[in-house]
Amino acid sequence: MRNYHCQWYVPDLPNADDIHPYLTEIDSNRFYSNFGPLHEKLKRKLHQYFFSETRGFISLVNSGTSALEMSLRNLKLNRGAKVLVPAFTFAASAVAVVRAGYDPIFCDVDESDWRLSPEIAESVIEKRQVDAVLPVSSLGYPQNAMRWAEFSSKNSTPVVIDAAASLLNQSTAIGVTICFSLHATKPFGIGEGGIVWTSNSDDHKEIERDINFGFSDGEVKTVGGNYKLNEFMCAVGLAQLKRFRSVEEKRTSLYASVFDLLNQNHFELPEIEDSMLCFGAPANMAFLARSPGDASTIRTALDSLSIESRRPYCPPLHRHAGFKKWVDGCFENNFSDLTVTEDIQSRIVGIPVHNFVGPDYVEKISRCLIQ
Ligand SMILES: Cc1ncc(COP(=O)(O)O)c(C=O)c1O
Repeated sequence: MRNYHCQWYVPDLPNADDIHPYLTEIDSNRFYSNFGPLHEKLKRKLHQYFFSETRGFISLVNSGTSALEMSLRNLKLNRGAKVLVPAFTFAASAVAVVRAGYDPIFCDVDESDWRLSPEIAESVIEKRQVDAVLPVSSLGYPQNAMRWAEFSSKNSTPVVIDAAASLLNQSTAIGVTICFSLHATKPFGIGEGGIVWTSNSDDHKEIERDINFGFSDGEVKTVGGNYKLNEFMCAVGLAQLKRFRSVEEKRTSLYASVFDLLNQNHFELPEIEDSMLCFGAPANMAFLARSPGDASTIRTALDSLSIESRRPYCPPLHRHAGFKKWVDGCFENNFSDLTVTEDIQSRIVGIPVHNFVGPDYVEKISRCLIQ
């Protein structure tokens, strides 16, 4: 693996000194997992920080994928139920659907904002059975939760939003469940972890029960699993919360400069309502080059300056061998139903936006774009 001067992502997490006071607390508590004191403190503080405007409930789990799996299981659909998933997302979205015992149906995303929209979901529902929808806040660009709540009640179809990379700016709405990741590469990273947000107290109680094997009052009521977030991860989370505002301000300001540069050079970016971004920048920065050839020219130029670029969500899910079973027979004419996804994957370029890019980063990127 090449050692780039500017890597694709370098997490800005607390260092050993920041975490040390919380490790000392663990030493004296002698509590290491099972909803210990640090877990309770982190849960309360995360709720205050990220969800103070909402009346919902959160559960902490050991990954964003676990959050999705638990939320989907909690829908209590029949085995093999059909869950609509955009083909343009990270593999975990569909992995969670399969782990929950359901079948993913892959669909396209909207050309303007690269996300699965309620309109696209409705057009699929007209043609096929869909038992639930899993819209994704692609690349950290939030979904409009209110519109999905309306979709859910209009079509009597449950919705779980995969907002893995969107903890800062994802809105909530009564009637939809929303899942977040606390992976190191996400805006609020702790290493590994996840959050389930729900507006419904019964759903919340069931999810809390199922992340702890399904236990309630000393008895397994439904078979869950071990998805608990341990005290050491919570220590990192508490240390990260203390420094988070400055971490995020730095990254948001870099994001704004790179966004302006791409805009001035007329590269295609996902459309977004300004109000959705008021709390922070999306997790990833990616744009569409004018052609597949331009995309590879730009990536070669970045490479020559030792800047690592990537093609996020590539290959899209319908092109992974592991999902073949759910793709075969569903698409005709070389994926003609997935034209937007196919176009995006042929032209996408993802570039670093993190706090360790170096002082002349924007100027260097600019040189690679103006070729
Ligand atoms: C869209 C999406 N969903 C789910 C996940 C899974 O999150 P985690 O890595 O915390 O399991 C990710 C992680 O990158 C993601 O990008």
